Amino acid sequence: MVLGSTGQLGSDVVEAFATEDVRGLAHEDLDIGDATAVTELLDGLRPRLVVNTAAFHNVPRCETEPERAFALNAIAPWHLARTCRELGARLVHVSTDYVFDGAKQAPYVESDRPNPLNVYAASKLAGEYAVLNAGGEHQVVRSSGLYGVRPCRAKGGNFIDTMFKLAAERDEVRVVDDEILTPTFTADLAAQIRVLALEGPPGLYHATNQSSCSWYEFACAIFELGGLRTPLRPTTVKEFASPVRRPFYSVLDNAALAAAGLDRLRPWRDALADYMARRLRARAAATGTAS
Ligand SMILES: NC(=O)c1ccc[n+]([C@@H]2O[C@H](COP(=O)([O-])OP(=O)(O)OC[C@H]3O[C@@H](n4cnc5c(N)ncnc54)[C@H](OP(=O)(O)O)[C@@H]3O)[C@@H](O)[C@H]2O)c1
Repeated sequence: MVLGSTGQLGSDVVEAFATEDVRGLAHEDLDIGDATAVTELLDGLRPRLVVNTAAFHNVPRCETEPERAFALNAIAPWHLARTCRELGARLVHVSTDYVFDGAKQAPYVESDRPNPLNVYAASKLAGEYAVLNAGGEHQVVRSSGLYGVRPCRAKGGNFIDTMFKLAAERDEVRVVDDEILTPTFTADLAAQIRVLALEGPPGLYHATNQSSCSWYEFACAIFELGGLRTPLRPTTVKEFASPVRRPFYSVLDNAALAAAGLDRLRPWRDALADYMARRLRARAAATGTAS
């Protein structure tokens, strides 16, 4: 069972399990914040495996709606994890690189101490603890900088869409060069989640594409692969004043996956090239032109 199945990651997780008897549940099918509905539905369907990609992850809104953030990102996973344990099902719960403050300035392994800087991150960390301490065979998967073929529901698109839009609208595009991450293709993460869920021991895992870059470096690769000719310039976070604190560095080392012999994730540039090729093909098909 996949929760959040209309999301950018959730829809790819449904596809990754296409050869199994998989059922995707959208928000309108089940609100993960409704504990009674969750219990009734799981009790009725008796899944062997539940992958939870649903979350309240609009970061600025989490600051102004902390009750909702903790209800959906911490209490709901806690209830899901307990219900799954009672039914003998494994829960795979998706979390975030934002649990770290970035001070390490080197890739974070699973045993590094988190220090969330904002409400979203604190609520997701509480959700991780709730799932990992529920007593089942559960797994928590932290990832970073997601983009997928379907748009991010919470943000109405992804970073690549934003670059194409800005390149078309502006004389010059400026992107921050002092926030470092690993962009991760949701199709790759979904395939990795499948392998981990079916073969991996319980516990906490980092799962991102390999290597890292700044948002500016990511934008450079998008402009190059997408043939965008608008001038692109590096800038700093200071230039984009935001009320929400975010880590300047949130690169994850897939150490636990590697130790289990299960790391299947490729370098972020290879994943981006693949995504861009699929995107071009989809556009060509939509407009009836050959790719
Ligand atoms: N996006 C990133 O860069 C990023 C980075 C690291 C980790 N993550 C984590 O990765 C996971 C997936 O993110 P995503 O980018 O795929 O998000 P997304 O595209 O916004 O998808 C989230 C899905 O969850 C559903 N949902 C939201 N609230 C729900 C609720 N109360 N009950 C049931 N379903 C609900 C949404 O449906 P509606 O849209 O209809 O509400 C949507 O289908 C999240 O746990 C997020 O915290 C994301």
